[in-house]
Amino acid sequence: MDRTAPSEGANAGSIPAESTMQEKVWEREYRSKKMLSPSNVPHADVVRFAKWYKKRERQIDREFDFDRVTILDLGSGTGRNAFYFAERGAKAIGYEISDTALSYARSFASDAGLSITYEKRSIGEQFALPDASIDIILDITSSNSLSDSERAVYLAETHRVLKPNGILLVRALSKEADKHAKELIARFPGPDEDTYIHPDLGVTEKVFTKESFTKTYGDHFSFIDLERIEHYATVAGRKYKRQYWLAYLAKN
Ligand SMILES: C[S@@+](CC[C@H](N)C(=O)[O-])C[C@H]1O[C@@H](n2cnc3c(N)ncnc32)[C@H](O)[C@@H]1O
Repeated sequence: MDRTAPSEGANAGSIPAESTMQEKVWEREYRSKKMLSPSNVPHADVVRFAKWYKKRERQIDREFDFDRVTILDLGSGTGRNAFYFAERGAKAIGYEISDTALSYARSFASDAGLSITYEKRSIGEQFALPDASIDIILDITSSNSLSDSERAVYLAETHRVLKPNGILLVRALSKEADKHAKELIARFPGPDEDTYIHPDLGVTEKVFTKESFTKTYGDHFSFIDLERIEHYATVAGRKYKRQYWLAYLAKN
C-alpha cells in the first residue's frame, strides 16, 4: 500500500530541544523518501520474532494469543510493526518523532479499523508509561540515531517499563564486517564514538561492534539470542550492503 504525504504540520507535537535536529532530518527523510517509503508491511525480523514469542508463550500456556500482549514500538515510523501486532489483537503503542510518519501510521490504522496509540515522543526521553507495563518492546533500527546520553535514558526506560518476563527486540547497525560503516565514520564523523552523519540523509547513526553492543545492553538485559544479519539498504536509489545486530533481550 502506498500513500501520498500528509499536509505540513499534521499531528504537530512538542519534543525536547535536544531532539529537534533529529526531528528535522527524519521529517525531511519521510517527505523525500530517500530511504524509507510508507508501508504497513511488517519487517521480516519482526514476523520471525513474533513466531518465536508465540511458541515460547504457548509452551507455558497453550491458549496464549497476542490479545494478551501490550507492545511498545520505539521509532514506529509508518507503523508497520505495531500494525502487525495490533492486527493480531495486541494492544499497541508507537513512539515516533516525525509528524509525517505518525500521520501515515494513524491513517493505516484507521483504514484498517485498528485502535493503535501513536504518540509524538522522543525515545531518548522518559516514557509516559507505568513500570512493568509492557510485554514486548520493538526497536527496529530506531535507537541508532540517539546520542549516547539519550541512549542511557532509553536503556533505563526500556528496562523500567518492561514486565519481568518481557522481551526487548533490538535491530541495530553493526560496525563489524560493514565497510560502509567504517568509511562513513572516517569521512563523516559524528559527535559520539562510532557515529557518523550520513551524507545523503543528514541522520546521525551509531554502529556497534559485538563488544560495544553487548556492553551497552548487558547492564540491563540478558541475551537470549544475538545474531549478525546482512541486509541491503537502499539510500537515494543506491544499494548498500549493511550489517545489523538482531538481539532478543530479557529483562535482568
Ligand atoms: C530506520 S527508521 C525505522 C522505522 C520503523 N522502526 C520500521 O521498522 O519501519 C527509524 C525511525 O526512528 C525514528 N526516530 C529517530 N530518532 C527518534 C527519536 N529520538 N524518538 C522517536 N523516534 C525516532 C525515525 O523518525 C524513524 O521513523
